[in-house]
Parts: sequence; C-alpha cells; structure tokens
Amino acid sequence: MKILVIGGGGREHAIVKKLKESKRVEALYCMPGNAGIASDAVCVDGKATDIEKAVSFARENKIDLVFVAPDDPLSLGMVDALNAAGIRAFGPVKAAARLEGSKAFSKDFMMRHGIPTARYECFSDYDTALDYVRQSDFPLVLKADGLALGKGVLICKNLDEAEEGLKKLMLDRAFGASGSTVVIEEFLTGREVTVLAFTDGNTVKCMPSSQDHKRAFDGDRGPNTGGMGAFAPSPYFTPDKQAEAMRTIFLPTIEGLKADGIVYKGVIYFGLMMTEKGIKVIEYNSRFGDPETQAILPLLKTDFTEIIDACIDGTLDKIDIEWLDKTGFTVVIASGGYPDNVVKGYPITIGKLEGVTLYHAGTAIKDGTLVTNGGRVFDMTAVADNIEDARRIVYREIGKVSFYESRFRSDIGKV
Ligand code: AMP
Ligand code: GLY
Repeated sequence: MKILVIGGGGREHAIVKKLKESKRVEALYCMPGNAGIASDAVCVDGKATDIEKAVSFARENKIDLVFVAPDDPLSLGMVDALNAAGIRAFGPVKAAARLEGSKAFSKDFMMRHGIPTARYECFSDYDTALDYVRQSDFPLVLKADGLALGKGVLICKNLDEAEEGLKKLMLDRAFGASGSTVVIEEFLTGREVTVLAFTDGNTVKCMPSSQDHKRAFDGDRGPNTGGMGAFAPSPYFTPDKQAEAMRTIFLPTIEGLKADGIVYKGVIYFGLMMTEKGIKVIEYNSRFGDPETQAILPLLKTDFTEIIDACIDGTLDKIDIEWLDKTGFTVVIASGGYPDNVVKGYPITIGKLEGVTLYHAGTAIKDGTLVTNGGRVFDMTAVADNIEDARRIVYREIGKVSFYESRFRSDIGKV
C-alpha cells in the first residue's frame, strides 16, 4: 500500500511510525510532515489544509489511502473531496466532522440524543451573552463555537473574568470567526479522561483510555494548551466506568449519528468528565488527540492498516484489536512562550536517547541545522509495565533534548 498522511505534528509522527510497522505498507508520504517525520516518510510540500494538492498528489502518485489526521482539513471536507475523486481516505466526512468543528452543533446533538453533558446556552449576540453571564453562577465556561487549536475555552471564576472573556471572544475576535457564536456552559468538576474509539459508522471499538494535561504549567496552572503530556491507560477509568460510558455515551453517539443520517467513519475522541452525577461529555473531537496518540498508538499490536480498512469498509465488527498490556507515557517539550508567544528557529541538540521514542512535533531543518518550528516541539514517549516506570524513563531522558527556553511539565501523570 502507498499511504499519504496529512498533517505535520507529533500525532502525525506517531501515526507514520505505527503505519511503517505494517508489512502491507510499501511507501509512506506525509504532507507537510516535519524534520523528524522526514526520517520515516517522504515529506510533501503543501499545507495540511490544501485539499486540491492532497487530491492531485494522491492521483499522480497512485496513493492507495490518504489518512487525514488534523481537525481543520477534516472540517473543510478533505475526505469528501478525496472520495469524490475516487481516492480512499480515512477520517470523517465534513458533515460528521462538525461534531468537533462546531461546539454549538455538538451540544445540540447531545441534547437531541440524551447524551450527558454540561448545561449550556449558545449566543451570537454580545449584549444578550453579557446579560446572561451577569445573572449566572460561577465558575462558568465560555467556548468559541469553532476550531481554536484547543485554546478557545475560557474558565471564568467570577463576573470580571467572564466579561473580559466575552469581550476577547466576541468583540476582539481573539480566535477569529470561531468566536462569532459562543457556548456558555456549566462548570463540571471531576477527573477528566479521554477515550478514543475507532468506528465504521455502526460499530465502535475503544482504544485504551488516556489522560491529557491541558494546562501550560505544573500543578495544572496557566492557560489551556493543545496538551502538555498524556498517559494511557488511565487507572481511574475502570471497567465499570468503561461500561457506563459505553451505555450512556459511546453507543448513543453512534446511534445518534445514524439517526441523523450521518455516516461517521474514522476516530471519535470523547473528552469526558467523571462527575459525581455520572460521566459527562466535555467535548467531541473528530480525530486522534494530540498528544494522547503519542501515548496510545505505541501500545497497538494489531496491524494499523487492517483497522483503517475495517473502518472504511464497514467491517469493524469482524476484527479483533489487540493492545499491549502496558502504559504509554508522553511528555511534550515546548517552546518557551507556548501557548501565547512562540518564537521559532532556535537550534536543537539531542543527546543519545535510551528507552524512549522521540516524536517530532514542531521541527524543521534550516541551513542544515535542526531548529524549533512550533509551540510544541517534541513528544517524548516511553512504554513500560506501569506508569511509574514509564514516567521515570521519560524524565531521565528528557534533559538530553535542549534548545533555548525549552520547557516541559514535570508533573505529567501526577495530577
Ligand atoms: P475543550 O476544548 O472543550 O476540551 O476544553 C478544554 C478544557 O477545558 C477541557 O479539557 C477541560 O479541562 C476544560 N473544560 C471544558 N469544558 C468544561 C466544563 N464544562 N467544565 C469544566 N471544565 C471544562
Ligand atoms: N489533546 C487534546 C486534543 O487533541 O484535542
């Protein structure tokens, strides 16, 4: 098989590496890829959102499968365009990717199908939203409706913060048009867990549960980021919790999509909060999570391409998916200013690493030197028998990667 992966971060590096293990794969391409992916696949010039380029490259190079990993090309309809051109693609079509692309849509979907989630209201008028927050209890959560790189969520402890947040989203348009509609919702408390699942539109098969760490700094302080580290499985997501979520969330989601006439094929990301009143959905994503993938995929034993084929062909019920009975543990190495002020282009040195996999997230080669090229620069992963061992290995090795103002959280898996 010749496969083109769309995207160029740590998640895509983990996907590329896992695909490379398959005997069925003869050639791997990645658009745009990054300096690390270039050791595992042929990088193709072009933006991850360039639908025309993806279609023409796939056609000209007789690509058998295009794996669309990031949210924005999925929301823009890259899978629809590839399918229309007769090219096999992995990932949900545009109508299905709305589950992530519009928070207002996904909240209404959950309401319609009785799927537990935080109480909410949607607003597209600033003054009405302001009146609403002035009558609300706190904390309160404000969310930009559209895609905002995981940063369009503001947790407001009091009215001042809520007024400032509304202004930032709706008037200053800090996240562009995605703030033209705002979802205001109840603040949920509990432990967060992520469950990624494969689906072919009828069957849903969960991957090991995982836990992301979204805040920028130790102790879960600072602004929300795309994610600073993850581990899988989560010891808190017990078989009982899995059974509850299957009954109240995973199956009703697939049934709800079907009832709405949406055929969802690909990966669904369930962002969950285990509250005292049961498990509730915080958000859906229409793709693999980043950095959860870098902790989960190393545990996959089954040939990845067979699972992808089963999702596309509607035969997911016919295959068994096997996972290592171990823990995957990932820490993100970020640029100093991430998530607010990222400076790129610093040279990187990497010592001799032992017992870990270093996925590249934001790296490039400039004048023959490996340099930083994004907010999240690397993800370092270890797989071990338990979380303590995996954590020890990563933190033993992580100092061997260095660049100016590099930064990582030192408490992944502890909070
Ligand atoms: P999201 O982009 O919707 O995943 O939100 C980012 C993060 O904000 C989540 O991972 C949670 O930690 C937090 N969050 C979002 N919605 C809520 C909520 N209703 N209650 C508490 N925390 C939330
Ligand atoms: N790590 C969160 C996400 O991928 O959305």
